[in-house]
Amino acid sequence: RSVSLIGAPTDIGAGARGASMGPEAMRVANLAQTLEGHGVEVVDRGNLSGPYNPWQPPVNGYRHLPEVTAWNRAVHEAVYAELQLGRLPILLGGDHCLGLGSISAVARHCREAGKKLRVLWLDAHADFNTSALTPSGNIHGMPVACLCGFGPQELIEIGGHVPAISPKWVRQIGIRSVDEGEKRFVHEQDLEVFDMRYIDEMGMRHTMELALATLDANTHLHVSFDVDFLDPEIAPGVGTTIPGGPTYREAQLCMEMIADTGRMASLDVMELNPALDVRNKTALLAVDLIESLFGKSTLMRK
Ligand code: ARG
Ligand code: MN
Ligand code: MN
Ligand code: MN
Repeated sequence: RSVSLIGAPTDIGAGARGASMGPEAMRVANLAQTLEGHGVEVVDRGNLSGPYNPWQPPVNGYRHLPEVTAWNRAVHEAVYAELQLGRLPILLGGDHCLGLGSISAVARHCREAGKKLRVLWLDAHADFNTSALTPSGNIHGMPVACLCGFGPQELIEIGGHVPAISPKWVRQIGIRSVDEGEKRFVHEQDLEVFDMRYIDEMGMRHTMELALATLDANTHLHVSFDVDFLDPEIAPGVGTTIPGGPTYREAQLCMEMIADTGRMASLDVMELNPALDVRNKTALLAVDLIESLFGKSTLMRK
C-alpha cells in the first residue's frame, strides 16, 4: 500500500510540553525507510502548521480551545485529502486531541464511500472526558467524547456531521486510567473497553480476537495508537505514563493481529514526547511496532 506521513507538531491539548517534537523523533528513528524496507511506498508530506502553545489555564473547562480547533481543522483536511487519494495516512502527533481531526476525516471518508468504520483506540486512557468531567481541562483527554458528539460545537462539528462516529464503532484496548466522572460516562455510553484487567485475565490474543471480530471486506480499520498504551518501563517517552501497561510481547502480538486482518487503512501515532525519552528509545520502539502493523513477521505467513 501507499502511505503518507503527516506531521502535526503540537502539544496544544496536553498537560506537559514536548509532544510537539514527536513527528521529528519518528523521522529520526527512520520510520519512512523502515516501512520502505517492507515494500511500502512512503511519501512524507512534512509538517502541518498551526498556532503556538500559549500555555494558559483552562477557560470554561477547556484549555486552548481555539488553538485545539485550528490544529484539528488542519489535521482533518490533511488526513481527508490522503484518503481521497486512496493512500493510507499515518498521523504523527502531536498530542491525542488530534485524534479528533484524524478520525473525523476517516469517518467522513467512510460515510462518502459507503464503508463501515472500526476504531481501535490503544491507550492507557479512555480520553472520554467532557468539560464538566475533566480534572485537567486538557483536551487530549476528550477526543473520543468529542467524536461521539459530546463536546464544544466547534470541535464536534469538524467533520461536518454530528456525531462523527458512534461509540459502537470503537474498541478501547489497554485502558488503566479513567477519571471518576469519566468512568460513569464510559458506562452510560456503553463504550467497549478491554482494560488491563481484561487483558491480564483473558490474554492479548483473546482480547484482539474480540476487538477485531466482525470486520469484513467493507470495513475501514483505523488504529489510534497513543504511545502511553505501552508499559512505561519500555516506553518512557510520553507525558502521562501509567504503570502496568502491555509488555513488549503483548504489544507485538496486538500489532501483528491487526496486521493479519489486512484491513488497517489509517493510523495515528500520538503522544510521543521526546523531551521525556531516553536516547529516542520510545520512538524506536514505536517504529518497531509499526513494522509489525505493516506485516513484519519472523517466518513466512501461512
Ligand atoms: N484523563 C486525564 C485527563 O483527562 C488524562 C488524559 C490523558 N490523555 C492522553 N491522550 N494522554 O486529563
Ligand atoms: Mn478508502
Ligand atoms: Mn493516553
Ligand atoms: Mn490518548
